[in-house]
Parts: sequence; structure tokens; C-alpha cells
Amino acid sequence: MKITVVGAGAVGASCAEYIAMKNFAAEVVILDIKEGYAEGKAMDLMQTASLNSFDTKIVGTTNDYSKTANSNICVITSGVPRKPGMTREELIGINAGIVKNVSENLIKYSPDTILIVVSNPMDTMAYLAHKATNLPKNRIIGMGGALDSARFKYRLAEALGAPISDVDGMVIGGHSDTGMIPLTRLATRNSVLVSKFIDNERLKQVKEDTKVGGATLTKLLGTSAWYAPGAAVSSLVQAIACDQKKMFPCSVLLEGEYGLNDISIGVPVILGKKGIEKIVEIELTDDEKAQLKESAAAVRKTNGLLDA
Ligand SMILES: NC(=O)c1ccc[n+]([C@@H]2O[C@H](COP(=O)([O-])OP(=O)(O)OC[C@H]3O[C@@H](n4cnc5c(N)ncnc54)[C@H](O)[C@@H]3O)[C@@H](O)[C@H]2O)c1
Repeated sequence: MKITVVGAGAVGASCAEYIAMKNFAAEVVILDIKEGYAEGKAMDLMQTASLNSFDTKIVGTTNDYSKTANSNICVITSGVPRKPGMTREELIGINAGIVKNVSENLIKYSPDTILIVVSNPMDTMAYLAHKATNLPKNRIIGMGGALDSARFKYRLAEALGAPISDVDGMVIGGHSDTGMIPLTRLATRNSVLVSKFIDNERLKQVKEDTKVGGATLTKLLGTSAWYAPGAAVSSLVQAIACDQKKMFPCSVLLEGEYGLNDISIGVPVILGKKGIEKIVEIELTDDEKAQLKESAAAVRKTNGLLDA
């Protein structure tokens, strides 16, 4: 298994580290445009191998795509992160050009690869990767829902006073402060609906805290977060590399599913060796359907900026 991570910044390096620590890949190539940066990150990470007991070989390169040839999975984290007070959508001006160029270069050297798009605004960048590469829809996966769901579980556990391993929950919709939809109705503590433990007001608060999960961290850190994003990407990569058939909410090109067409947005999918092996259509309430429709309208508005 060969995995490429483009962008040796905070998220890319964290993602490469978690992949290596999970010890399922033969090689991770990190590529960055900044001279020497990916080589430095790769060398630093390789010097943790004997301490952290992994055998994955990590290689860094400055923009030499030939080093990424025949990657099974490529992760795109290149681009600028947001600063405090910014929305993810505001990054489109810089990141669209980067993601288009990077995805075209990756496909040249790894025509059979599965692409995982992380750069923001992620749903629009995943849609752009489709337009730029024309890959089948099962091979382009936008990562957002896995992270948002992890943040949702963190907030649920906090509200319940329970360990995180006790709770389960999922976030669908667009990966944005206003567009994401934490499915509070379906969240459980050991298969019991969380509404048995906390009242509606507290649950509403959990939902709001989840939606601004990224913005809260950006304010604290001065830039966007990287540990949980890196861990979330590594979980998707592992599910594909190890053919786990695990279910995650991911941004995927919809063709009629959930009543939506020609848009990439977060819905539950099964991940295995073919990438997205199935889109899971769950029953939503009218209110949740309306929220998804509104979220999709916002993503479409951002997609519209691609032609501007
Ligand atoms: N989808 C998600 O859930 C999620 C979560 C966190 C961050 N993000 C996004 O991921 C992106 C990266 O965030 P970060 O915190 O790692 O930023 P960062 O600035 O730390 O790293 C970005 C890296 O990309 C590199 N880069 C820029 N242009 C490039 C190009 N053309 N080719 C190769 N490398 C290039 C930069 O040199 C830099 O090292 C941002 O767009 C951020 O908004 C997404």
C-alpha cells in the first residue's frame, strides 16, 4: 500500500504521522511545494519510527510528482487554512487553483488512485476534483463528516458526562459552520437515544457547539486544527487500505441520492478497497431533509464561485 499526502503542513503531517503509527501502509510519500519542507517532515517522522514501533517508510519530496507514482490513495491537504474570524468558504480564491493543479498532477502518475480531498472549502474542492479529473465517483472522497462526527461525539460525551467510547453519532451535510447537520435525533449512548439522558435544550447546545467546532479551535490556535483532522483522514485511509467496509459520513458526488444531483456533500457511505462502495440512504425527518436542502444550496452557491 502506497499513500501520498500532498501538503506537509499541519494537517498533512499529522495525517502522515497517524497513518504511519497505525502501521498498515508500506510507504507514505509527503509532497509539498515549499523547498525542503516535506523532506524535513518525512525525516523527522522517520526518526520516530523506532520509538513508536512502525515500519512504514515515509519519504518527502519538493513537488516531484514522479515520487508519488502508483499510489493507491492520495490525500490532498495543500492550500491555506483559515484564520480566526474567517469562514472556510473564504479560502476558495487561493485553494481552488491549488486543488485543481494538484489533483491533475496526482492522476498523471497514479491513474488508478483514490483521492481524498481535505482542503477547504472541502465540499466544493471535492466537486472541483471531480471536474478536474473525471474520475469515477467512488474514487473521490471529501473528508469533513468524519471529523465533524468526532467533534460531535466529543460534545455529546461532555454533555452526558460519559466516556467518548459510550457515545455514537453522525454529522451529515456540508462541511461548514452553518451547513453541517449533527443528527442529534439518532445519537446514542450504548444504543439508548441520548434524549433519554439530556433535555432538548442541552442537545441543541451540543449541536451548536459541534457546528462551530472548527471555528472554536481556530480562535484558540490562531489557525485551523490538525490533530483531529489528521486522525480523521487516517481513519478513512485505513478503511480503504484495509478494505474495512466501515461507514463514515463523507462528501460524495450525488446523482439523485437524498434528492440531490451534481453536488458533493456529506452523507453516510461505506468505505472499502474500491473507495466509496455504497452510499447509505437513511430515513430523515422532514426537518432534517429541509436542513440538508438548505446546506446543499449553500454548497452550490460556493460551487458557483468556481466559474467566476
Ligand atoms: N476537511 C477538513 O475537515 C479540514 C480540517 C482541517 C483543515 N482543513 C484544510 O486543510 C488545508 C490545510 O490546512 P493546514 O492547517 O495543514 O495548512 P498549512 O498551511 O499548515 O499547510 C498547507 C501546506 O500546503 C502546502 N501547499 C500550498 N500550495 C501547494 C501546492 N500547490 N502543492 C503542494 N503543497 C502546497 C503549503 O506549503 C503548506 O505546507 C486548509 O485548506 C484547511 O482549511 C480541512
